[in-house]
This record gives sequence, C-alpha cells and structure tokens, in this order.
Amino acid sequence: MMSRLKVEMSNTKYNSFRPGEVWPDNHGVHINAHGGGILFHDGIYYWFGEHKIAGEAGNAAHVGVHVYSSCDLYNWKDEGIALAVSDDLKSPIARGCILERPKVIFNPRTKKFVMWFHLEPKDAGYTGSLSGVAVADKVIGPFQFLRSFRPNAGVWPENVPAEARRPLLAEEAAFVAKLDLPGGPLPYFPKHLLFRRDFAGGQMARDMTLFVDDDGSAHHVYASEANGTLHISKLSDDYLKPAGKFVRVFPGRFHEAPALMKWRGKYFLISSDCTGWAANPARISVAENIFGPWEELGNPCLGTGAQITNTFNSQSTFILPVQGRADTFIFMADRWNPKNAIDGRYVWLPVEFRHGVPTISWRDEWDLSFFDKANG
Ligand code: DGJ
Repeated sequence: MMSRLKVEMSNTKYNSFRPGEVWPDNHGVHINAHGGGILFHDGIYYWFGEHKIAGEAGNAAHVGVHVYSSCDLYNWKDEGIALAVSDDLKSPIARGCILERPKVIFNPRTKKFVMWFHLEPKDAGYTGSLSGVAVADKVIGPFQFLRSFRPNAGVWPENVPAEARRPLLAEEAAFVAKLDLPGGPLPYFPKHLLFRRDFAGGQMARDMTLFVDDDGSAHHVYASEANGTLHISKLSDDYLKPAGKFVRVFPGRFHEAPALMKWRGKYFLISSDCTGWAANPARISVAENIFGPWEELGNPCLGTGAQITNTFNSQSTFILPVQGRADTFIFMADRWNPKNAIDGRYVWLPVEFRHGVPTISWRDEWDLSFFDKANG
C-alpha cells in the first residue's frame, strides 16, 4: 500500500505552496529536509535539511543531510544525501547523533560549498552544544565532515564591558555548577555568567543559521549560553571557522530558531521562544548593523489568537530571498512531529511588509504571483 507520505504520481507538477500539507518531491515522496535552509547557486535553488526517519527515533540523525533542487520553488528534485552520517562509532557524526538545522553557503574565493550545523554527539542529549562544519566541491556534495567544536574559545564578546571580560571566580563557578539549565526560560537563569564560564572551552552552540552579507562576509547566528542568549559570530574569509569577532544578543531572553534577512539596509531576525518541539510565539527583531544593537519588535505573525501564539503551528528555520524579485522573501518554518519525525511538515508563507516591518499571515495555498499584488 502506498504510504501517506507518498501520495502523488512523480510526474505531478505543482504551481503553488500549500503550507502544512504533504509536499511530494519528484518521486512523489514527502520532502525530507527539516530544519533546513536554501542556497541559490547558478540559477537553481538547493534545499538542504535534516533527513528524518519514522517514529521518535527520527529525532536523531540516522541518515544525514538531504538536498533537493528546484528552479521554481514548487517542484523539488531529490538530489540525495549531501552529508552522510558515519558508521564509525568514533566519528563525531556517528549514526544516531543529533544533527540539526544544517545551512550551506558558497564561498566565491575558495569555490567551496560550506555546511554548518548543530551537532550533539550520540547518546549525550543536548549537552555537547557543538557546531559542525563540512565542505564540498559540488553543491549537492558529497560533503566531507571537517570538525566539530564549540565556537569562539578564548574570545571575549565585543559588546561586553571590560570588567566582565574575566573567567568565573571559583564561587561563581560553584554556583553555576549547581544549576539545572535545561535550555528554556528560567527565573533564576544566570544571564551573564555562562559566556564567562565557557570562555576557555568555547561557547555553547545549538539552533543556528548562516547569513552572507552583501560584502561577502558570512555570519553564524547560534543559540548559546544554554539557549539563553543568541550569539552573532563572524566567519573567517574561507567560512570554515569563526573569525574571532562575536556579540551577545538579548542576554537571558531565550531565542531559538534564528532566521535572518536584510531588507533596505536593515537586518531582521525572526526567531522563536524555547519550548522543545512544541510551537510557540515567533519574535522579530531589527538592527542597522548585524552586530547590533538589536531591538525586539514583537511577534511578526498576524491572524487569530492561536495563529499568533503558535506561529501557525510551526517554528522558523530560514528566510528565503526570492531571486530576481525586489522585496520578496519567503518565511520558512517547520511543523515538527516528534512522535513521527519523518512526517514533519513545512510551512512556507510570504513575508508581507507593513509599515516597514516584515509580517506573516496564513495562506492555505498561494504562489509567487502573490508578491505582484503585495509588494508590486
Ligand atoms: C527546538 C529546536 O528549535 C529544534 O531544532 C530542536 O533542537 C528541538 N528544540 C529539540 O527539542
């Protein structure tokens, strides 16, 4: 019997987005690229994301990072596994590790495709909080795993005062060691201690995105300090490591799922609260410089109370600038299904600018001609 996730014939052509529905690829199989991001390269869009398997086991990585290609954003061709997990149990990306939110960018100097992702070694929960980096000569891979680490070891954030640039005192370290820090908001969260604790070993890095600016400089945005604080960290010219310059953003405010866009010279960050796989209200923040200061504006979602409260039952992963169209961005989000991870759905909605601020409203079905009316 044909599975529910394989519902259409492979020759079906799509000409619209249907947020939250099964989205078949060229084989008629639901696209398997969760927590993903998109790279536009040589006229083609490439969608990279977490390949999930069925059941709760699918919340860990058993296959790797899947890649699909498309010319029109509606019809996606399965290009296979761009980065495979390893059968070597000693590998940092051993099958069964947690490998989340992969993002790929192209480096025009080195001509390499560079992938960053959130990595948790197998069977250690979310305690590792590592960044993984892989590299490829071709856009669809195969990507070679390079290394995993906690970023910015030995570097102080640019935006903390000189008096805070010191490792923890013994009594501060003892205090922090006793705290239970599960990764969500807490009234006793020590909002200015964890980056000092992690100075020598590197900063915790979980949910993440990459953002390449107009001048080619790339940035890694990651949930750090037990999810309490976002870090925005410049990458080296080859995009393979941190450049040694980063800032802390919204200490103690707990943002996950960062997605960044730039519009008319301003940077907009859409992110979420920290509630595990459960959907929560999105947030939008703005800055004139990527290193801040950042200002949180509120919730970008418009609609019913429930839609605003749960971001249309989804969590942000990427904001896609549609090529060849001014002012045209697609908000990409995941509707997670942790009990049957492979059946996670994709919520893609048009970004609508209202009074200079990106907003998002629900559409059952829409296509790119929407932007002719909205932003034309
Ligand atoms: C929310 C994050 O955004 C996801 O990427 C994943 O890490 C889950 N938490 C795990 O609970």
